[in-house]
Amino acid sequence: MTRRPLVVVHRDKAMLAEASAARLATAVLDAQAARGAADIVLTGGSMGSAVLEALGRSPLREAIDWPAVTIWWGDERYLPTGDEDRNETQARDALLDDLPLDPARVHPMAGCDRSGSPDEAADLYAEQLARAAGGPHGVPAFDVVMLGVGPDGHIASLFPGHPALTASGSTVGVRQSPKPPPERVSLTFEALQRGAQVWFLVAGPDKADAVRRSLGGAPRDEAPAGSVQGTSATIWLLDADAASQLPTA
Ligand code: 6PG
Repeated sequence: MTRRPLVVVHRDKAMLAEASAARLATAVLDAQAARGAADIVLTGGSMGSAVLEALGRSPLREAIDWPAVTIWWGDERYLPTGDEDRNETQARDALLDDLPLDPARVHPMAGCDRSGSPDEAADLYAEQLARAAGGPHGVPAFDVVMLGVGPDGHIASLFPGHPALTASGSTVGVRQSPKPPPERVSLTFEALQRGAQVWFLVAGPDKADAVRRSLGGAPRDEAPAGSVQGTSATIWLLDADAASQLPTA
C-alpha cells in the first residue's frame, strides 16, 4: 500500500537537525523496545552529519542501548578507509566513534583499500546485507533509512539519468557519477524500500526545486528521491527554505 508522505517543516537547518536527532532517538528506542535491536541506515552529506552531531549532544543519547544498534550506510564514496571524504569517516567523526557500538554491527561499505572495484565492494555489501537479513529478501528490514537529497534530486548514489537507477539486487557499484568522486557504491531502490521508515533530510534553498519535483510525482529518472517509500512511513523532514516551493495547503 502506498501512503502519502508526511511533510514536516522546521524553521531552519539547525532546528531540523535537532528535531531529526530526537526523532531518530525515539525510533531507535521504539525498535529496541519492540525487538531488542535497531537497524538504521545513515546518509552522507551535511544533513547526515548534522543529525548525528545533534544526537551526540542530546540527553536521549544515554537512553539508547548502543551495542544493540546496527549501522548501515545508504551509499559510500569509493575511497580508502579513513579518507575524510568518505561518508563513514564523517559519521564516525560526527558521533559513531564516541559511542559504545558493537564493531560487528557497524557495516561500512568497502573502499578501494578493501576491494578491487566498486562492483566488488557492492557485492561484498550485498553479502553482508543478506547474512544479516537471514530471510527471503536479502536485505534486513531497516527501522529507519535516512536519505539526504541533492539539488538534482539524487539520493544515496542514485543520480538522475544514471544507469544505477535501474540496478537490480540490493547494491550497485556506481561509475561516472555526475558528482565527484566518480566511483561510488550504493544501495539500490529495492534495498532502500526495505526501510520501515524512510526519512528525507533536506535543508537549503538550492534543494527547493528538487523537493517540489520529488513530491510532485516527477519520474524516477528525473527525481530519484520521489520514488522511495517506507513500508510504514515516508517522511520529508525539511527546513523552510527547502519547503519554499511546495504548494501551500
Ligand atoms: C555524496 C553526498 C550526497 C548528499 C546529498 C545531500 O555522496 O556526495 O552524500 O549524496 O547526501 O547531496 O547533501 P546535504 O545533506 O549536504 O544537503
